[in-house]
Amino acid sequence: MLGKHSKTFFAVSLGAVIVSVILAAWGFPKIVSKQIQKNVQIDNSSAMFEKWRKLPMPLIFKIYVFNVTNPEDINTGARPKLQEIGPYVYKEYRERTVLGYGENDTVKYMLKKTFEFDQEATGALREDDVLTVINFSYMAAILTVQDMMPSIVGVVNGALEQFFSNLTDPFLRVKVKDLFFDGIYVSCTGNHSALGLVCGKLKSDAPATMRPAEDGSGFYFSMFSHMNRTASGPYEMVRGRDNIKDLGHIVSYRGRRDTSARWMRDPYCGRLNGSDGAIYPPIDEDNVPEKLYTFEPEVCRSMFANLVGKSTVHNMSAYYYEISRDALASKSANPSNKCFCKKNWSANHDGCLLMGVLNLMPCQDAPAIASLPHFYLASEELLEFFDGGISPDREKHNTYVYLDPITGVVLQGLRRLQFNIELRNIPTVPQLARVPTGLFPMLWIEEGADLPESVLDELRQSHSLLGYVEAVRWILLAVSIVALIASCIAVARSGAIPMWPRNTNSVSFILNPHPTTDINKVH
Ligand SMILES: *[C@@H]1O[C@H](CO)[C@@H](O)[C@H](O)[C@H]1NC(C)=O
Ligand SMILES: *[C@@H]1O[C@H](CO)[C@@H](O)[C@H](O)[C@H]1NC(C)=O
Ligand SMILES: *[C@@H]1O[C@H](CO)[C@@H](O)[C@H](O)[C@H]1NC(C)=O
Ligand SMILES: *[C@@H]1O[C@H](CO)[C@@H](O)[C@H](O)[C@H]1NC(C)=O
Ligand SMILES: *[C@@H]1O[C@H](CO)[C@@H](O)[C@H](O)[C@H]1NC(C)=O
Ligand SMILES: *[C@@H]1O[C@H](CO)[C@@H](O)[C@H](O)[C@H]1NC(C)=O
Ligand SMILES: *[C@@H]1O[C@H](CO)[C@@H](O)[C@H](O)[C@H]1NC(C)=O
Ligand SMILES: *[C@@H]1O[C@H](CO)[C@@H](O)[C@H](O)[C@H]1NC(C)=O
Ligand SMILES: *[C@@H]1O[C@H](CO)[C@@H](O)[C@H](O)[C@H]1NC(C)=O
Ligand SMILES: *[C@@H]1O[C@H](CO)[C@@H](O)[C@H](O)[C@H]1NC(C)=O
Repeated sequence: MLGKHSKTFFAVSLGAVIVSVILAAWGFPKIVSKQIQKNVQIDNSSAMFEKWRKLPMPLIFKIYVFNVTNPEDINTGARPKLQEIGPYVYKEYRERTVLGYGENDTVKYMLKKTFEFDQEATGALREDDVLTVINFSYMAAILTVQDMMPSIVGVVNGALEQFFSNLTDPFLRVKVKDLFFDGIYVSCTGNHSALGLVCGKLKSDAPATMRPAEDGSGFYFSMFSHMNRTASGPYEMVRGRDNIKDLGHIVSYRGRRDTSARWMRDPYCGRLNGSDGAIYPPIDEDNVPEKLYTFEPEVCRSMFANLVGKSTVHNMSAYYYEISRDALASKSANPSNKCFCKKNWSANHDGCLLMGVLNLMPCQDAPAIASLPHFYLASEELLEFFDGGISPDREKHNTYVYLDPITGVVLQGLRRLQFNIELRNIPTVPQLARVPTGLFPMLWIEEGADLPESVLDELRQSHSLLGYVEAVRWILLAVSIVALIASCIAVARSGAIPMWPRNTNSVSFILNPHPTTDINKVH
């Protein structure tokens, strides 16, 4: 009577256990990762796509400037005393234009950034503030000439004196808005023969920081206006539809599969590694990557941050990556970095710079040197040049990112970079005849992303949804196991399994090697 039903019950619950074990072990993770992939891949059907195409909130772009407080003393050989002024805060809007979809699951796009001054966040500082900074374009011109043709540097300086009117020393008194975006006018009108050379070279090189004046009479120099005026790219990026692990990986930039800098031919230094910093693949918890690569077109190279550990940000668990010493290490500390050295950079070095600085000459065709702010993680030798104003601090000057492991979304991140140029003593140039030689910082930038509450809520919701799915997975398994146990008991009670020992529990049923000895008691 009951025996028949309990046998069916047993069979069904056994089936249920098998199905739920398969689901728990394989089915659910597969479904979940498929669902995540659908949401994060670069496809116009995915939830992430619109946010990727047009960032829903601006990034915060901060600029800190080093005001030179003792220019007169430096002109007579004293060590520079600097004072950091800032931040000048800008909102940075980002929009991507999809140019098309390519072979091998890629998307091609242009990235347009737009900057807008944020007076409220800047506080008491004004865009009209006048600061004293190193005269970057002048030093760049002089250094370039001296490295190419040391004998004529004095002649060329004569031309530069016309080009840069009122050139008394290598420092520039300038309104910050002109320095950052509006531009400082340099004139090409004059009848010095060398001036024609300088202007001709500028016209043919067309460096990004020099914007030709509309009437063709000269140029405007500014640090960032090219970023506001023109889109960068095209980038070619993996969409993650075929393999989510490759999501966001840049495969080409400006049509090249290596960085366009002069170190491009080197298989290490020239390699395009990692994403554009906006999008990363979900993190496989069993195989968390030790290094997070990002391709930085501004410095023509891939950079990486090292895994520090698991952390919590905005009440969500995240993986924390931070820039480490080996990214910008000198050749002796990280031999792979040798290919970033440029030959003949300076008489004192073998073409390699000190620890913690990167020569941008091969990248931007200007003798600029990049580093972390205040020479954080750089050789302490660099600090000896200053009489104050430079003090590296991990909290204030590192670069880091918090990633949501489930979606790979950047929960919070800051990227920091300082631009420097060499101040060089050149006896034949009156403006530089008595200055000390050393690496001189001009300004540093901080680009930060912090997700707004609305996006965080969306993420939290999808996480709790995943939590429910996860719960369902275990509940199903638990329920089916309980049902199986119940069915076993029912089967035993009904006498369908004759060997069930009435006086022993299920543990001894399993452990007892000779349960058949009890057969007669059951009946
Ligand atoms: C999505 O992209 C496909 C081509 O990849 C296009 O045919 C379709 O119209 C697009 N849909 C939307 C909503 O933009
Ligand atoms: C910057 O330094 C100059 C001296 O070179 C000084 O006169 C000026 O007040 C400083 N600016 C600020 C904002 O401190
Ligand atoms: C696509 O991948 C294949 C094999 O990896 C490669 O040979 C081919 O050049 C790739 N195509 C493009 C357009 O990158
Ligand atoms: C950036 O360019 C836009 C126009 O494209 C302009 O309105 C804006 O003022 C510029 N931003 C800065 C900081 O100059
Ligand atoms: C150069 O300096 C003189 C006096 O110091 C001043 O009158 C003139 O306006 C300056 N010229 C420029 C282009 O700044
Ligand atoms: C520095 O160079 C600029 C051009 O960038 C020039 O206009 C200016 O006169 C120079 N400033 C000084 C103080 O020499
Ligand atoms: C050209 O140079 C001569 C002497 O070298 C000078 O007298 C004259 O004023 C200059 N003309 C212009 C337009 O600068
Ligand atoms: C590029 O990434 C590979 C691993 O994916 C790594 O071995 C290599 O060192 C990286 N190269 C650069 C320049 O970052
Ligand atoms: C974070 O979690 C704590 C406790 O779990 C809670 O008290 C707090 O309000 C949460 N904060 C946010 C921003 O959600
Ligand atoms: C480096 O400079 C020396 C002379 O100072 C020159 O002979 C050599 O060719 C230069 N090397 C390169 C790679 O430019």
